[in-house]
Amino acid sequence: MAKYPVTRTTTPKERPDENNLGFGKKFTDHMFLMNYTEGQGWHDGRIVPYAPFELDPACMVFHYAQEIFEGMKAYRTADGTVQLFRPVENARRINASGERMCIPPIPEEDFVDAVKELVAVDEDWVPHAPGTSLYIRPFIIASDVALGVHASKTYIFCVICSPSGSYYAGGMSPVKIYVENDDVRAVRGGTGFTKCGGNYAGSIRAAEKAEKAGYSQVLWLDGVERKYIEEVGAMNVMFKIGGKVVTPALNGTVLPGITRKSCIELIRSWGIEVEERLLSAKELFDAAESGLLEEAWGTGTAAVVSPIGEMKWNDREVVVNGGQIGQITQKLYDELTGIQWGRVEDTRGWIVKV
Ligand code: PLP
Ligand code: COI
Repeated sequence: MAKYPVTRTTTPKERPDENNLGFGKKFTDHMFLMNYTEGQGWHDGRIVPYAPFELDPACMVFHYAQEIFEGMKAYRTADGTVQLFRPVENARRINASGERMCIPPIPEEDFVDAVKELVAVDEDWVPHAPGTSLYIRPFIIASDVALGVHASKTYIFCVICSPSGSYYAGGMSPVKIYVENDDVRAVRGGTGFTKCGGNYAGSIRAAEKAEKAGYSQVLWLDGVERKYIEEVGAMNVMFKIGGKVVTPALNGTVLPGITRKSCIELIRSWGIEVEERLLSAKELFDAAESGLLEEAWGTGTAAVVSPIGEMKWNDREVVVNGGQIGQITQKLYDELTGIQWGRVEDTRGWIVKV
């Protein structure tokens, strides 16, 4: 029995070309909406035709950015069924983000049912072409009409879906990253561990600078000493150094990625040690220059497992693994996408059928 009522569109859109989707450019016919009112809680969950919002210009989200979001995907398997990857983790993380941003929690089951039921309604939008998926963007905005800086007493939870191809135009090919020394993304006590829009707003200047210099993403350093590696714009990072995998520890400034967590579980299950610890840019570049750095890759829902082929920090430029995709990077990509697209058996309970 469906939990949420559905109002179907009377003007379905034309389906996009599956071989030319790009990332996050096309949107499906429906969206999920739910409102929060203080004293009443979350109410009126519903699936409605995809449409613009009408919001008062004094709406809090426009001024103080009390907003959080998630990113997840629905995958079409060879037998035509559609499935989600660890959606409860997204429910937990949006509530962890919400706790920091004073946004009231959504019961995990209601979040997952909202996503499942919306994807079921727009099921025929889940693309079939290899490597494509339906990117799902749940988000919550503060909707009180007031200019005082306070927690809103009303919120809108919305879920939209976008049939998408590769996050990087080049697909699964090594990316070039740029270590940023000036701008910082997060400090302890701030909002780095949350998926709040403000984290991304503050990251755009460095990303533009990196792009102009020919790099696809920024590698952030810690906000205090500007010494330790944190993460990349839309990915967590992992490095294979001297036979072990090293990834920055989750210390409050790094987003606790669900792909990161899944990759750590997979790598450990293959008998390879994973160290979650402080890793300085100096240690990383020294390892690269002395030949100890074997592989580097990023992990994320949009980016999946993305090999890092080149890194630049000040005047030091290094090529990783001859610019080729490394062995662990490829194995992780194959295993993870295998589970997500149903080609590899899910022995860990990560898959939820729609
Ligand atoms: N770090 C940042 C800043 C991100 O935006 C993302 C993407 O969501 C990630 C890491 C990876 O997280 P996940 O694997 O949960 O998608
Ligand atoms: C994701 O991987 O889901 C993200 O949210 C990345 C994004 C900021 C485009």
